[in-house]
Amino acid sequence: MTFAFRLRRFFTAALLQIPRARARGSIVKSLRLFNCTIYRKPRVDLPIYHLDELEIVNNLADPRRAVPAYPCANWRVLDVGCGAGQTLTAVEFRACRERHGIDVDAEAVAYGREHYPMLKLSVAGAERIPYPTNMFDLSYSRVSLPYTNVPVALAEMHRVTKRGGRVWFMLHGWQMERGHIAEAIKTRSLRRLIDRSYVMLNGLLLRYLGRCFARPWSGTYESIQTEAGIRRLLRRAGFVDVVVHRDGHFIAEAVKA
Ligand SMILES: C[S@@+](CC[C@H](N)C(=O)[O-])C[C@H]1O[C@@H](n2cnc3c(N)ncnc32)[C@H](O)[C@@H]1O
Repeated sequence: MTFAFRLRRFFTAALLQIPRARARGSIVKSLRLFNCTIYRKPRVDLPIYHLDELEIVNNLADPRRAVPAYPCANWRVLDVGCGAGQTLTAVEFRACRERHGIDVDAEAVAYGREHYPMLKLSVAGAERIPYPTNMFDLSYSRVSLPYTNVPVALAEMHRVTKRGGRVWFMLHGWQMERGHIAEAIKTRSLRRLIDRSYVMLNGLLLRYLGRCFARPWSGTYESIQTEAGIRRLLRRAGFVDVVVHRDGHFIAEAVKA
């Protein structure tokens, strides 16, 4: 193997890392002269999930992309369970007056604060949103509501949303849970099977009693949603004009009366 060949292979490998590094916001500068890139190690490492979602949000052609699409000019927007604020960076929100996000994951929030100074992110739970009543034109939760005490989180989102303001949710349905159960059976993981049974039971409780409970072993919440269940929960929380979409994603939207 010649030296020139090794050198070319090294630089090709370095170039392949660029898109991922850009998503991490960690490129300091490109030295075009030598065709290589210098990386700054991020101070906070982010779970790969949030980075993948960031890539999806920034790729308008990705079929997995699902972002609230309203005429948001001058709106105050709140993302409940925002992770690092990845969804708030979407082009749909660029004209907003303010973009706020809360999440219980302190590391994700720290990463978001470091990389997206235009966002106002804080560490807080959906069950106790640290904002005044009637503040937001839009409050949304993208696959985070399933990890909360749903009726309490909905009551809080209702409180912080303005009258006539909107709420938007991306949810977890039964179809997804079937995959988790099948995986638990395939891998013969009793612990996982018990955990997924808890999630399904919570889904049933939410659907029929409008309540859910925390995992006795960790104190965290998780549930799946049904169309009829989320309609009822949203109406009970005080929302009107509830619309549910099931075109690939499971999305519910409503208005605060
Ligand atoms: C599947 S991730 C979704 C992240 C982001 N919304 C997105 O769409 O990429 C779920 C997020 O909900 C957050 N979360 C879980 N329980 C929460 C709670 N009670 N209050 C606020 N956020 C919560 C997690 O920390 C995690 O960041």
